[in-house]
Amino acid sequence: MRHSVLYTFVFAAIICVVCGVLVSTSAVSLKEKQDFNAALDKKKNVLIAAGLIEDGEPTDAVKIDGLFANIESVAINLENGTEDPTFDLEGYDQVKASQDPDRSFTAPANRSAIKRVPTHAQIFKVNDDAGTLQQIVIPIEGLGLWGTLYGFLAVDADLDTVRGITYYLHKETPGLGGEVDNTRWKAKWPGRKIYGPDGGVEIAVIKGEAAPAAEAPFKIDGLSGATITGQGVTKMLDFWMGDRGFGPYIKSLKQQPAV
Ligand SMILES: Cc1cc2nc3c(=O)[nH]c(=O)nc-3n(C[C@H](O)[C@H](O)[C@H](O)COP(=O)(O)O)c2cc1C
Repeated sequence: MRHSVLYTFVFAAIICVVCGVLVSTSAVSLKEKQDFNAALDKKKNVLIAAGLIEDGEPTDAVKIDGLFANIESVAINLENGTEDPTFDLEGYDQVKASQDPDRSFTAPANRSAIKRVPTHAQIFKVNDDAGTLQQIVIPIEGLGLWGTLYGFLAVDADLDTVRGITYYLHKETPGLGGEVDNTRWKAKWPGRKIYGPDGGVEIAVIKGEAAPAAEAPFKIDGLSGATITGQGVTKMLDFWMGDRGFGPYIKSLKQQPAV
């Protein structure tokens, strides 16, 4: 049986409308769940960077929230390097904020292609049961080869020694730049130092293999066949740990007596 042209167009239009409604309804109804899972994944990555859970370890919201009991979420004003207890971090998305001219400022020239810096950033202070600071977990982001990598760097309470690193979002090639997710590569980070004797950021991903931390405190093994991603990691650490990122806050924290 042959249908008229009009019938075909009307049929196609109805199918389009029905499918469109189905897709948008599921997108709207799943949005809350997606946001919840994204927030949980971020928290999980904070814990992985801090070494409080193993990479790949099965976890759930209860366990993650339990481990967060000793973790303070703190807003840092990146314009002056101070903690801002008045800033509400509930639902705060600093990646979105850095795209909003009212909530960000133009980044100073940098090698990491960072264009804007959010006026506020969320860091995590990890305390022991007595409330003594053990480490801080800092958000890092910067360009790799294919796009921006987003992650966390955990720094010991000495504010110089790396405890861990993790990336929760990137577009690097699996097996090449995507090896930033490799647990063996991430295991090279704990114990390395960030700041050189002059106070500048010295930690860097090199090309090839780095000696153990005691001999090469500022060097990290390169990612084989992915020098550009490795350089991206170096550049973003240079930015965020330096004077234009969290450097001023870290310096002020170093001068505070231990609680
Ligand atoms: C399909 C494809 C994907 C690549 N993905 C990456 C990547 O994710 N990260 C990276 O640094 N280099 C990647 N490269 C390689 C870069 O183009 C470049 O050759 C490399 O970074 C140089 O590193 P090397 O000096 O260690 O070989 C890719 C190359 C190809 C052809």
